[in-house]
Amino acid sequence: MAKRQILTQEDETLRYKAKTVTEFDGKLACLLDDMIQTMFEAKGVGLAAPQVGVLKRVAVVSLDGETIYELVNPVIIKQSGTQIEQEGCLSIPGQSGYVQRPKKVTVSAQNRQGKPVQVSSRDPYLAIALCHELDHLDGVLYTDKVIHGYQPKKPAAKRDAE
Ligand code: CO
Repeated sequence: MAKRQILTQEDETLRYKAKTVTEFDGKLACLLDDMIQTMFEAKGVGLAAPQVGVLKRVAVVSLDGETIYELVNPVIIKQSGTQIEQEGCLSIPGQSGYVQRPKKVTVSAQNRQGKPVQVSSRDPYLAIALCHELDHLDGVLYTDKVIHGYQPKKPAAKRDAE
């Protein structure tokens, strides 16, 4: 495994639509392993392949560092509810913003062997992470969706301390 460099928002690679994965080979396994290591070292909860300069429909998500979702060619097949929460991005360091997302999503994808997998988000935060990473595969950054002027319910001071 090797840590890869995370591109920042100035890099236009982040704005391209990523390509469907058709080869479930050692190269894909290596990409997934590297992405997981890169995500953990950057203390992120998700990472999409375009963020490491690879325009393939591959993303990894792990909220707790234990359960790791490896998503190849992921598609949202079901969504419900809405939530507005603060999110950030490893490609946009030091910033965050409020984005409206579904509260629950079900994602259909393939694993590194090409077998079909499904992830249903019981945790609303997982729904945010899944939507955020899937957006990356279409060249969309959360900043495209930020709700300007949204006032958080919690006092700002308390939120900063979290
Ligand atoms: Co991101």
